[in-house]
Amino acid sequence: MKNFPMVIRPAEFHDVESIFRLIKHYPNELLPRAISDIVQNIDRFLVGEMNGKVVGTVSWQILPEIGADKAPSVEIKSVAIENSLRRKGLGQALVQGAINRIRTIQPCQIIVLTFTPDFFASMGFKVVSKRKLIHKIYAGCINCTKYDSPFTCPEVAMALVLSPSTTVKRSITKRKATT
Ligand SMILES: CC(C)(COP(=O)(O)OP(=O)(O)OC[C@H]1O[C@@H](n2cnc3c(N)ncnc32)[C@H](O)[C@@H]1OP(=O)(O)O)[C@@H](O)C(=O)NCCC(=O)NCCS
Repeated sequence: MKNFPMVIRPAEFHDVESIFRLIKHYPNELLPRAISDIVQNIDRFLVGEMNGKVVGTVSWQILPEIGADKAPSVEIKSVAIENSLRRKGLGQALVQGAINRIRTIQPCQIIVLTFTPDFFASMGFKVVSKRKLIHKIYAGCINCTKYDSPFTCPEVAMALVLSPSTTVKRSITKRKATT
């Protein structure tokens, strides 16, 4: 990471085309995202920037149908690092940034559907049964023509169960104490 300084920041509208291109580069690993979809959800994207260029992206989506009303699940999706910069720890840094952001809204868990389970396992995600995410899976796979069923597809369902963030609570307590 030292030789590859990457700034992680919330995405802005001028990043839309770069995000679109990064995701489009991995048609076998990632569901495509239309420009309009990226624009409408730009506040749910982080980007990694290096020397003024967007070299990575990650986004998330709230899944109110999985989990409790007051603590739904959040899915991490559209994780991509520029091909020439893979395996240098950038993906991990970007996803950790997304996890930190997602923690602040206190969902019960973060889920992911992935063909790269070892990457997410390196950040503490555990494999879960696809049956636990059936609503999400049918919605996400509805246009898939590669596999006859989500259960024959090699994509792996994983979850990171979150306990309420002590970091968030501490900073709120501190703010109260100073006002
Ligand atoms: C998957 C992806 C985001 C990982 O980003 P990255 O910057 O290459 O990964 P990192 O260097 O942060 O990897 C951290 C660890 O995760 C694991 N890992 C990462 N990519 C892996 C792979 N393809 N296969 C197995 N393990 C992998 C390794 O343990 C790695 O540590 P190591 O390099 O010291 O062995 C990136 O390769 C990518 O953009 N892939 C194409 C799109 C994609 O598959 N997105 C994920 C779909 S949800």
